[in-house]
Amino acid sequence: MASFSQTDIDALGARAEAMVNALGAISAEPDRLVRLFLTPEHRRAADLVGHWMRDAGLSVSEDALGTVRGHLPGEEAKRLLIGSHIDTVVNAGKYDGPLGVIAGVLAAGHFARAGRQLPFGLDVLAFGDEEGSRFPATLSSSSACAGNFRPGNLALADRDGVTFQDALAAYGKSAADIPAAAFRRDEAAAYVEVHIEQGPVLETRREPLGVVTAIIGQTYLNVEFLGEAGHAGTVPMLMRRDALAAAAEAMLLGEQLARDTKGEVVATVGRLAVSPGATNVIPANVVAIFDIRSASEAARAQLVERLRAGVRAIADKRHLGLTITSTREVPTTPCHPALQEAFAQAVRALGAEPLRLGSGAGHDGQAMAKLCPIGMLFVRCRGGISHNPMEYAGPRDIGLAVAALIGFIERFDPALFSG
Ligand code: GLV
Ligand code: MN
Ligand code: MN
Repeated sequence: MASFSQTDIDALGARAEAMVNALGAISAEPDRLVRLFLTPEHRRAADLVGHWMRDAGLSVSEDALGTVRGHLPGEEAKRLLIGSHIDTVVNAGKYDGPLGVIAGVLAAGHFARAGRQLPFGLDVLAFGDEEGSRFPATLSSSSACAGNFRPGNLALADRDGVTFQDALAAYGKSAADIPAAAFRRDEAAAYVEVHIEQGPVLETRREPLGVVTAIIGQTYLNVEFLGEAGHAGTVPMLMRRDALAAAAEAMLLGEQLARDTKGEVVATVGRLAVSPGATNVIPANVVAIFDIRSASEAARAQLVERLRAGVRAIADKRHLGLTITSTREVPTTPCHPALQEAFAQAVRALGAEPLRLGSGAGHDGQAMAKLCPIGMLFVRCRGGISHNPMEYAGPRDIGLAVAALIGFIERFDPALFSG
């Protein structure tokens, strides 16, 4: 087993931080970080990651969705997959996604430099579509790697009306090659990911690293109210069919239902489409997208049912048309106990206490779990802040995470997962 001095960990942290900053400078906008799937910024970020992978001694390829793959051969055909994403939300922080890719590159580079073949191969994966910030679908890159890409996604359009299929072609890729992006089940031993926690637990408990037990389940409900446009000055209040007022009521209902679960379920509306969207026109058509998450499948299902019923009552009372569509249904995804244990041992070997915690955020592991067992290591982030330019993880914690990933790889035994 490799042993790491504080100087080694500081050097790994400094290198990783410089790489995070380099990727964080690649943005569509000068004053905030926006790096969407299949854009020129995605291309630049992918090229930089490919360059790092080559420098680390990996052979580099790209699949049909633009996922950059760095491969280090092992003695056997089995592979340990290590990944995260290089796309961002709008006005993002620098760490969500890139940190996991960078940790993978640095850890794989450690073994490539040592010149001693591992019993299994390593594949470092830089996915381009985890956030779903461009098209109304998430995890399409990792779904393709897991052999579970939904062809229907190709028809989805971004805010400018460009379809996924056309964006793919403009990026120089062909949808016909997507099936070939899938790893074979008999070669993918496991998928692991290093990620910032995006929440406050590790900081509160004063621990740098945490072992993830499960990624919580998620439902997206698109709720569309159909009312009638009218003059904001002339139509009496009791004669209106205002779709936005109904959406406001529905959002407060969602908030109340989630609060009533005392922390078991969280519900958010982060996006509203209001039409026609003019100050002096009564809103005729509103789409509110509810993002509902819970570690408990039953609690999430119950809240979704109550919300659907409540929303129907709001539409009836206000004489509005209504459609409710579920656009995302992801069950709670457990992390494999043996992978949790290997991460815990690697963290303990570095002198830290491996806290176990669930993930409230979505991750590529949810898609990769369709292919193979998954595991995740969380890194403390300041104030638990994420999806925000204030997002920050300290270089010492990042260095520890890379060292823990190296220790994990040394402990990894693909035989535990062969079947
Ligand atoms: C992605 O970060 C998500 O949890 O939505
Ligand atoms: Mn992420
Ligand atoms: Mn994110």
